[in-house]
Amino acid sequence: MKKRKNILKIAIDSPAAAGAGTLAKAISKYYNLIYLDTGKAYRLIAFYKLKYPQKFTLKYIRGKIKNLKIKDLENKKLLSDEVGTEASKIAKNKNIRKLIYSFQMNYAYNPPKKYEGSCLDGRDITYNIIPDADLKFFVTANVNTRAIRRYKELKALKKHQTFQEVLKSIKNRDKSDYSRKVSPLKKTKDSILINTTNLSKRACFLKIKKYIDRKIYS
Ligand code: C5P
Repeated sequence: MKKRKNILKIAIDSPAAAGAGTLAKAISKYYNLIYLDTGKAYRLIAFYKLKYPQKFTLKYIRGKIKNLKIKDLENKKLLSDEVGTEASKIAKNKNIRKLIYSFQMNYAYNPPKKYEGSCLDGRDITYNIIPDADLKFFVTANVNTRAIRRYKELKALKKHQTFQEVLKSIKNRDKSDYSRKVSPLKKTKDSILINTTNLSKRACFLKIKKYIDRKIYS
C-alpha cells in the first residue's frame, strides 16, 4: 500500500454516541483532514445483511467494499438502531474486519492530495488501524448522557424509540464492543482521554484543538 509522507494522522476510539463523530468532523474541517467514520463501513455491511440476507457471503461483501466510497456512507438508512446493533454483531467476525481493514488503511495513510492528513474514528483505530497516529484520543461520556444524545438524534430522524429502548441498546452495544475477543474497544495507554459528559460541542473542540496545536507547533 502506498503511504503518503508528512501527513497528520489522528486516531479516535469511542463507545457509541459519545460525540466522537461530531468532534472528529469539526477537527477534520479545521485542519483539512479527510474524515472517515469507520463505524459507517460496519453499518453499511450490516445494512446489506439485513436487506439481502440470502446474498450475504464474503464474496458479496468483498465486492461491495471494493467499490466503496465515503459518499456511500452518508446514507441516512445507516443511522437506525437496528443497523447499529447488527453492525456490532458482524463486527465480531474476523473475516469481515479483514475486508474493511484495507479500506480504512487506504484513507488513513493515503488520503487524497488536497488533504493535509486523515482523521478516523471507531473502536480499534488507535491500536489496530493507525498505531503510529500523531495523536490518539479516547472520547467517552457517561451512558445516560450518551443515550439522551442518541435518543434526540433518532427523534430528529423520525425514528421513534423510547428512551429506555435506546439506553438498553447502547448498554448492549457497549458490552459487546468492550468484551469481544476480536479488536475490542479499549483505551490505549497512549490515548488522551476526552470525557464529553459535561462539555458543549464547542468546549470539546477547543479542548482537543489544544492537544493538536501543541503537537503541531511544538
Ligand atoms: O460507531 P458506530 O456506532 O456507527 O459503530 C457501529 C458498530 O460498528 C459498533 O458498535 C462496533 O461494534 C462496530 N465498529 C467496530 N470497529 C470500528 C468501528 C465500528 O467494530 N472501527
